[in-house]
Amino acid sequence: MTDEKKIFLDNCWYAAAWDYEVAEADNKLGRTICEKSIVFFKAESGVYTALDNRCCHRAAPLSVGRIEGNNIRCMYHGLVYNPDGKCIEVPGQETQVESLGVRSYPVVEKGHMLWIWMGDPALANPDDIHDYLPLSDPDNWCGFPRQSYLHYKANWLLVVDNLSDFSHIAFVHTNTVGGSEEYAYVSVPEELERLDDGFRLERWHYNSNVPPYHAKVIPENERTGKVDRRNLVEIRVPGLFFMETLFAPAGVDIKTQDIGQYRQYRNCQFMTPETRNTTHFFWNYLRNYDMDNPETTKSLQASLLEAFGEDKAIIEEQQKLLVKNTSFDPRFIKADKALAHFRRIWKKKLEEEEQKYPTKPTEESRHRIL
Ligand code: FES
Ligand SMILES: [Fe+2]
Repeated sequence: MTDEKKIFLDNCWYAAAWDYEVAEADNKLGRTICEKSIVFFKAESGVYTALDNRCCHRAAPLSVGRIEGNNIRCMYHGLVYNPDGKCIEVPGQETQVESLGVRSYPVVEKGHMLWIWMGDPALANPDDIHDYLPLSDPDNWCGFPRQSYLHYKANWLLVVDNLSDFSHIAFVHTNTVGGSEEYAYVSVPEELERLDDGFRLERWHYNSNVPPYHAKVIPENERTGKVDRRNLVEIRVPGLFFMETLFAPAGVDIKTQDIGQYRQYRNCQFMTPETRNTTHFFWNYLRNYDMDNPETTKSLQASLLEAFGEDKAIIEEQQKLLVKNTSFDPRFIKADKALAHFRRIWKKKLEEEEQKYPTKPTEESRHRIL
């Protein structure tokens, strides 16, 4: 036994995979979520199932198994599991053994994303999934035809920290999505809206230059004009980021205007722990203009990818230093208000879960780093 504490929330919906990722993996994708190896598969009926990936017989991965109707067969000695994880066939053995089976997890597809519930199935309510409507609204929002995935060698909370304080875009992304170091000085976030499971934060940069990523995709004569730029960020447990971005001509009072006439973006980023030191990062970036132009899509995807590469580089270096020194005590500045709130409520939820469902230590979870 160890004194291992719970490090992941279980009773919540995690973004697990884009639907195309499962399709491209021959309809059965092995992926680790919160340090548990899971197989996601799409049955012939079109229904998704998530099971422990480790066959209960000799631990072969079911992700290299074979889908048979609604079931999956382990391709080592042929055990067949139904969507509940119950073993319904042992080749060459007539008597079925009740105890043979693997754990099954609730899984639901919404907005092209597969969402998994890692906790008590009785508590899983698909209505609680933060369904991001622009992902399923091609009439009004145009994103990347293939949504994006990145893999971080860093703890998921470091990515949430990054997204909680946009002053970093001034320094990390000066030449991509930031535009100037001035952003950190003159754009001031409005009052933090504290939510039970996250926060909302609005930030305006008035009378600013058009940032490079946006300048690349608008008409040349507008690139040198001044704009008022608004970012409205929302972050929810267990690591879901949503952002509304608006560029309006500088000086326009948007409260009296129909904002639909201005260029806007919708951005989602989902951070799901793979392990305590690595993170699955899913994202898309959608716009409300120039929707039929694939060149605009290509340009935005390249710019955003470049910007996320900038984040990834600095965050993965942070991770290395934190792993080397686990007693590091971060010092707070005013701009940390949002991330501090997020960490506080996440920790509170974790403690509540820990009290209700004490952790059973496992071999894999012995070395706590973050
Ligand atoms: S390991 Fe799966 S059937 Fe033997
Ligand atoms: Fe960033």
